[in-house]
Amino acid sequence: MRLRAAVSRMKPYVPGKPLEEVRREYGLDDLVKLNQNENPLGPSRRAVRAAAEALGAAGHLYPEGTARAFRSRVAELQGLPGAEWVIAGNGSDELFRLLAEAYLEPGDRVVVPAPSFSYYRFVAELMGGQVVAVPLREGAMDLDAMAAAAGGARLLFLCRPNNPTGGVFAEAAFETFLEAVSPDCIVVLDEAYREFDETPFDARPHLVRYSNLVVTRTFSKIYGMAAFRLGYGMAQPGLLRPLLTIRDPFSLNIAATAAGLAALEDAAHLERSVALVREGKEFFYRLCRRLGLSCQPSQANFVLIDLGRPASEVAEALLGRGVIVRPCASFGLPTCIRVSVGLPDENRRFASALEATLHFHQR
Ligand SMILES: Cc1ncc(COP(=O)(O)O)c(C=O)c1O
Repeated sequence: MRLRAAVSRMKPYVPGKPLEEVRREYGLDDLVKLNQNENPLGPSRRAVRAAAEALGAAGHLYPEGTARAFRSRVAELQGLPGAEWVIAGNGSDELFRLLAEAYLEPGDRVVVPAPSFSYYRFVAELMGGQVVAVPLREGAMDLDAMAAAAGGARLLFLCRPNNPTGGVFAEAAFETFLEAVSPDCIVVLDEAYREFDETPFDARPHLVRYSNLVVTRTFSKIYGMAAFRLGYGMAQPGLLRPLLTIRDPFSLNIAATAAGLAALEDAAHLERSVALVREGKEFFYRLCRRLGLSCQPSQANFVLIDLGRPASEVAEALLGRGVIVRPCASFGLPTCIRVSVGLPDENRRFASALEATLHFHQR
């Protein structure tokens, strides 16, 4: 069969091995999963209860696909004029894809940071976009270079804090950047990890002034709800309306939106998660200092560690010891691993596995 030209150029996404397979292959029962920046505390119990109740009451009915109640509550909490300023998605991934589907023609220029989250490039390539990658500066977006690359672009992605470096750009630089970019270029600010960020930054005031700005958030990270698939975007209604037109009418399920609404009210769960991550990162920094490894401060729930040697071999050795981390060759960082903060005991298991692996490799 003849494929669309854009699709024929794409390579399939290679997911990490399923846990079951790793268990079987390595004969391990007890795995420590630190490779996808999930919240090891899991979802709020209130969220799980709300999901179960929603399924019990209305699991047989098609969902109200625009998630109006969820969007209204988000708008209220975020100080936005109304639900039409919010779009909910089957994860923030769905929103990136809808933006590309709605706004890109083949050949359109799309600016992405590098290294960063790979899905930006994926959605751009899916629509036949011309991807321009702009290198980071000190682990964060180089806003000057990105603005310079944005000439003639239709779509531009920013990630703050950035995956996989955990770096952030300064709040003061953001307005200058927005002024420099043409209003014809949609600026997507992906804030998947914002709740872990300890630096001052708030993009919301800019939403009123800049009709080309979209800010996305997810329930997959701090809310511990990656399997539910729920994210949202905030922007002016005119920018979001076409996305509502083209979206799959039932991509949002009632378990996700009911759980999301409940999770928004559980501040204690968020506080516990933030504290856990802060302590875990301190533990990782101390470990790196002790082992003489370089590791930049991160504003997210993971750290990027430069091992100074091929990271895929180390990751494989860690896997043999029951610890799953993310080797970063696919980000263009072949000597780095990205390690998500786990429970204290999981972090300790990672530390001993890393120490044992590096010691073993040195001999
Ligand atoms: C920067 C960034 N944005 C978005 C996502 C995806 O979020 P979601 O699960 O809401 O699709 C991830 C997931 O790893 C991510 O790292």
